[in-house]
Amino acid sequence: MHLTIKHLSAIILPACILSLASCSQPSSKNSKTTMADTTAQAALPAASGFEKTIDGKPTHLYVLKNKKGMEVAVSNYGGHLVSALVPDKAGKLISVVLGFDNIEGFQKAASSYYGATIGRYGNRIAKGKFTLDGKEYPLFKNDGPNTLHGGKKGFNNVVWDGKQVDPQTVQLTYLSKDMEEGFPGNLKTKVTYHLTDDNAIQISYEATTDKTTVVNLTNHSYFNLNGEGSGTILDHTVQIDADNFTPVDKTLIPTGKLEPVKGTPFDFTTAKTIGKDIDVDNQQIKYGPGYDHNFALNKHDINTPVATVTGDKSGIEMQVYTDEPGLQFYTGNFMAGKNTIRGGQKDDHRTAFAMETQHFPDAPNQPAFASTILKPGQVYKTQTIYKFTTK
Ligand code: BGC
Repeated sequence: MHLTIKHLSAIILPACILSLASCSQPSSKNSKTTMADTTAQAALPAASGFEKTIDGKPTHLYVLKNKKGMEVAVSNYGGHLVSALVPDKAGKLISVVLGFDNIEGFQKAASSYYGATIGRYGNRIAKGKFTLDGKEYPLFKNDGPNTLHGGKKGFNNVVWDGKQVDPQTVQLTYLSKDMEEGFPGNLKTKVTYHLTDDNAIQISYEATTDKTTVVNLTNHSYFNLNGEGSGTILDHTVQIDADNFTPVDKTLIPTGKLEPVKGTPFDFTTAKTIGKDIDVDNQQIKYGPGYDHNFALNKHDINTPVATVTGDKSGIEMQVYTDEPGLQFYTGNFMAGKNTIRGGQKDDHRTAFAMETQHFPDAPNQPAFASTILKPGQVYKTQTIYKFTTK
């Protein structure tokens, strides 16, 4: 095999080289923010738990640190945002993204999509099929009658080529081959994680294809702004700049209608706690059960936050920015304590929330929704920013 500069950089530039600190991370066993010990300073997991070979490819942990002391870890396995440590008011680092100490943890919890890069199609495609240019493409149904988050393996289970560009940036690339998971076209995909000096995690997506296809990439981080393992997120406050949402059927596929949030539990136009209306008597809430819905964001650009969430105990505030038209707000309704996350806590019911920026679910089958079609010659480009401050 011929080793090019690109190959070499993928092999020798991971966290340990560019960010020396990551080589000497204390073992995560000693330094967790847990329910039992909320005074401990959180730390990133040890890089060694991520040094593996999967599908014949090397995996690593890439560490990003900024001038304000914020730290982020990303793996090229599944493009996972493995960990994000955010300073609270007192400057203590709080671990705000749920995850595991090693790759095995992420592999075991694969269908829960912890921190993963989701593709080729984030969210659901009804009845596991869609039609493009008159041809029907059957997909793997991994969510009842539907396809969820890319299908059987998804981008969350593949090994990406990773390259640490600088101490605050890592770039992941993946070639999804023609007909992989049933989707047409060789899709060249690039995801860049960049940690800014104002405590923002900027995730940029890019893709090109050689055949007409559909694409909808997102990130599936589970946030708990009081700290992972610190209990439910029901007392977090949330504001979402969306006057409408897309109601769903009982399999969580949009009906195709846009419904005003006004007068419903889905009205987050002014801040309220997640718990306030999460269990009210409402058919859409029952389908969730809870919030598991796409919010049709009001007109916005990448410079204006579309959502703001505040941890009631930590005072950590997260703003979400995106150029996408939709936001899936998911309140961990299917979390059932099946996985043991870092710090030894169980991933119990509603102990985290996700805010997945996206085109609308099932857009390939719903002509009224903004198109997710990508054609040869076009460049798919989108961005999501999770920015952290304290209140
Ligand atoms: C979906 C949920 C699903 C979860 C899995 C979310 O994006 O909307 O229905 O259970 O992903 O982690």
